[in-house]
Amino acid sequence: MNTITKPALNETKIPDGVFQETVLEVQHYTETLFKFRTTRPDGFRFRSGEFVMIGLMIDGKPLYRAYSIASPAWGEELEFYSIKVPNGPLTSHLQKIKVGDKILMRKKPTGTLVIDALSPGKRLYMFSTGTGIAPFASLIRDIETYEKFDELILTHSCREISELQYGIDLVEEIKNDEMLSELLDTSKLHHFTSVTREDYKVRGRITDLMKSGELFKHLGLPALDPKNDRAMICGSTAMLKDTQHILEKSDFIEGANNRPADYVIERAFAE
Ligand code: A2P
Repeated sequence: MNTITKPALNETKIPDGVFQETVLEVQHYTETLFKFRTTRPDGFRFRSGEFVMIGLMIDGKPLYRAYSIASPAWGEELEFYSIKVPNGPLTSHLQKIKVGDKILMRKKPTGTLVIDALSPGKRLYMFSTGTGIAPFASLIRDIETYEKFDELILTHSCREISELQYGIDLVEEIKNDEMLSELLDTSKLHHFTSVTREDYKVRGRITDLMKSGELFKHLGLPALDPKNDRAMICGSTAMLKDTQHILEKSDFIEGANNRPADYVIERAFAE
């Protein structure tokens, strides 16, 4: 049976090129979703929207998975939002972490969901499903996102209502936090939610809501246009492909760090 190896701190052999950080907070949302916050290593820099490899020592060996950093680049702590996969090699252990436990983190952050990969535009659409909201949790707390765009539209679609809670709490916290609402013009931020497998005020996949125009009707905004709109997509492989297809049909061009353009994509990592 796999067990989390928890040697006393002074016995811990941290692999080279890896930080060992302390868990500061754990919050479980559903049977399958939780967030946790950790200390941030001195000198660890990243751009809002990037991901990093997170790991645990399991049976004496480090095991890592890619996690988007959900906290903004300026945050003193790091936040992660995770799925709990039954029998998942990492998440079956990670879901049991408690305040004071140690996690491993590789030193190099990376990723394509960064503002630098987009050319200037008026509106930024952030399309997410499930835990794909994590990189956007970082970007909607970053002042640069508000400086570069007139409107920020975060869409989050899940199977069930309870899976929307992390995003709902986050947006409420941003809008109510004195420091954040002074720094960021939070009236620019729109949060659109939909659910696919339960009754809810908006029901349906984000792709279907885009195609039918229901999304834009709800937002009171015009249809997507690469002249004004930029987009970031984070979700399952199938969701990425279908959303990307819709954008490309509207003449959006994929951007990259060295070639900023109209949209960027990143897979929501799950085991
Ligand atoms: P559905 O319930 O119709 O499968 P998952 O947890 O499987 O990643 O799904 C998260 C959300 O993404 C669900 O609401 C799911 O809808 C939706 N989804 C799954 N596949 C696609 C797709 N190809 N395009 C758009 N949304 C999708």
